[in-house]
Amino acid sequence: MRIIIGKDYDDMSRKAANIISAMVILKPDAVLGLATGTSPLGLYKQLIKWYEKKDIDFSAVRSVNLDEYVGLSKTHVQSYFHFMHEMFFNHINIALENCHLPNGMASDIDAECRRYDTLISSLGGIDLQLLGIGQNGHIGFNEPEENFEQMTHLAHLTQSTITANSRLFDDISDVPTTALSMGIKAIMQAKMIVLVASGKNKAQIIKQSFFGAVTPKVPASILQMHNNVILVVDEDAAGDLR
Ligand code: GLP
Repeated sequence: MRIIIGKDYDDMSRKAANIISAMVILKPDAVLGLATGTSPLGLYKQLIKWYEKKDIDFSAVRSVNLDEYVGLSKTHVQSYFHFMHEMFFNHINIALENCHLPNGMASDIDAECRRYDTLISSLGGIDLQLLGIGQNGHIGFNEPEENFEQMTHLAHLTQSTITANSRLFDDISDVPTTALSMGIKAIMQAKMIVLVASGKNKAQIIKQSFFGAVTPKVPASILQMHNNVILVVDEDAAGDLR
């Protein structure tokens, strides 16, 4: 594992964006596994700036997102479909038909999960998977105590994740309680993983995930077993590592 520490959120975002940019330059049709949340927002903004300067070309890139809430339509402002289009896809030259997310409105959830796994394999697997991390160590929506062997599946959000994510909804009762998420097994099959985290509230879970026991109680801890992980954090999130 490599650890890259940025001074602050913007520096962390630029460093992570540089890694993604390098991937797209080296492999113009790379399959990028993308994530939502506050943590990757800055790096998406940076990539958009470089696209506008004509430094990066996304025309052949394919993308698969980690997760999507169950029951939110694509137009719902808190759906991850909406987030990705508003924050990234609509501002670069990626072909929208090459941007994939699980469909949280699917009537047959099992079939949708299998469709998503088949889609990822048909693209040749993920070249670079971007991850954020929840304060309880969740990655995607793989919550503590889920097993490490799952592919895309229906995930039940824990109360702490519902509470954390409620900051983005009008009311906590509006936060979906389930989501479709790529499983740990699917994430571990990515050829490279870049996890971004910032802020003091992530310091403890970053230490536990990368220097504690590998256990399903801390889903991100499994990343210690991956041979190509880059952790990009700011000084606050790295605060407990020294
Ligand atoms: C959500 C997402 C995760 C994300 C996490 C942390 O639960 N499903 O993929 O990593 O939130 O989000 P943030 O980066 O906003 O702290």
